[in-house]
Amino acid sequence: MLTTIEHDLSQLFGQAFEANDLSFDFGATVRCSRPELGDFQCNGAMAAAKQGAGNPFVTAEKVVAALPDNDIIKNVEIVRPGFINVFLHSDYLATKLKSFSNDHTFGCAEDLSDTKVMIDFGGPNVAKSMHVGHLRTAIIGDALQRIFRFKGYNVVSDAHLGDWGTQMGMLIEGLKKRQPDLPYFDENYTGPYPEESPVTIQDLETIYPEESGLCKSDDAAAEKARQATLELQNGREGYRALWKHFVEVSIATLKRDYGELGVTFDLWKGESDADPFIPKVLAELEEKNISIKDQGALIVPFLDEEGEKLMPPLILRKSDGAVMYGTTDLATLYERVHDDKANIVLYVVDGRQQQHFKQVFAAADLMGMEQSTVYEHTYFGTVNGKDGKPFKTRSGGVMKLHDLIQMAKDEARKKLAESNFGVDFEEAEKEDIAHKVAISTLKFADLRNFRIKDYIFDLEKFSEFEGKTGPYLLMQVARIKSILRKAADINAQPGELLPTSDNEKALTFKLLEFNGALDKTIEKRAPHFLCEHLYNLAQDFSSFYQKQHILKEPDELKRASLLKLSSICLAQMEIGLELLGIETLERM
Ligand code: ARG
Repeated sequence: MLTTIEHDLSQLFGQAFEANDLSFDFGATVRCSRPELGDFQCNGAMAAAKQGAGNPFVTAEKVVAALPDNDIIKNVEIVRPGFINVFLHSDYLATKLKSFSNDHTFGCAEDLSDTKVMIDFGGPNVAKSMHVGHLRTAIIGDALQRIFRFKGYNVVSDAHLGDWGTQMGMLIEGLKKRQPDLPYFDENYTGPYPEESPVTIQDLETIYPEESGLCKSDDAAAEKARQATLELQNGREGYRALWKHFVEVSIATLKRDYGELGVTFDLWKGESDADPFIPKVLAELEEKNISIKDQGALIVPFLDEEGEKLMPPLILRKSDGAVMYGTTDLATLYERVHDDKANIVLYVVDGRQQQHFKQVFAAADLMGMEQSTVYEHTYFGTVNGKDGKPFKTRSGGVMKLHDLIQMAKDEARKKLAESNFGVDFEEAEKEDIAHKVAISTLKFADLRNFRIKDYIFDLEKFSEFEGKTGPYLLMQVARIKSILRKAADINAQPGELLPTSDNEKALTFKLLEFNGALDKTIEKRAPHFLCEHLYNLAQDFSSFYQKQHILKEPDELKRASLLKLSSICLAQMEIGLELLGIETLERM
């Protein structure tokens, strides 16, 4: 990994503090908050004074005198009470940028392949179409898997399909009512079962809401669904065969929807895959006296030392014997810890499931799983409508993900037409642009907020070409591409970077901050740090371009250097957007 300027300077100043018998750590150097005062500043002399080092101005002078020889610092200014402002050599900046940009990861990647990170996101449910509630987990989870992978981690993503709960029993009972003669329901039938699915996704999407509505009002129906779920879980062959069809037709549709968003998973496992691990987990919980029987159910109570209840218990088995959402999650975690040997497991799941994960993780802690693996609920806030309540369709229904994407596309087409973008392009290209603009709109609007915050879904605002939006960034990328194309037309190519001039400084510094933004994103599992960086980068490019007429630059070497700087900026924006799952455009 290449080192940042902050790092290089902090080393130099650290050594200078040490030479004065003060702690190396006082050498920490950061970007100057006011660029007119300097490029970087070291405030260690004041910190040292607080710890009894005496007059900070005097300390600063001594530290500066003790700075090792280097080709980084051009000059320093000491300002009362003891700030050390640092100005850098312009060729050091250019060289630094050159070394970063020569690396295809901008010097970010490290060999972290020994660290296995499993990311559980998506979590769609069999037979239910994806809705707005599945948007954030897909977008954030996908960005995180891309970013962790780029950094060099060994990443495995898993969709963790909801395929083992009572909704499966509802589907079985619902179908039984409609087609009682199917062999799946005949207990004396010994197979083989038909290869072809007796239902389509549309069938499932009709059966499920009807049955789940019925089960809410009709206890006998609910009991039947529970019973069918239990029999499925216990391995009744006809039900298992039928269930397989349910899962397969659902996955086909889910893949289409995720495909539209450009989101992929390494594994398409589900709650049901935890099944073989459940006996092991239950046995261990019993052996270690972690689980108890409570009114026929099997639970893990959570008590403090005084025996006070810390939170509601985790229910492992209901009194009828069926396992629960928490049981499959605990068993899945067990598999990830013991079989997959994951070092980190991230659950990119709605914040409204915090209690659930607290219970699952607390049970896992009691089993000692935390000793080998870190597991976290990387949760996110709610997408709200303008009324501040969870986002719905106009008629108050659940907004399907597919419809939401169509809405974003319509808005993109409208905004593109209003801005006169691509009016004379072929229809196919226009469609491609509308699609990419729409996806960038949804993704950037989501990712730019710190994930734990709720946000208000305002499609019109998100689709603007001005402001902190996806379309703005796509437009900036297309603009740099257009500059480079125009340059190529007059035979001007990017060349060697010359020492950084004042006009280029802000942009150069920004480009060099990419690593920091990415590391922060990884540390906090929060892509908004990367969004913020890319937005600022786009703005810095704009100001640079305003001051600097690249194509009119008469000095050819200088022009080649400016084009190089532009192309580095383009490369970084494209890499950054790709890490957010946003595809860019050649022109618009
Ligand atoms: N299927 C669940 C739901 O729709 C989300 C699953 C999240 N992942 C997990 N390991 N619990 O709420």
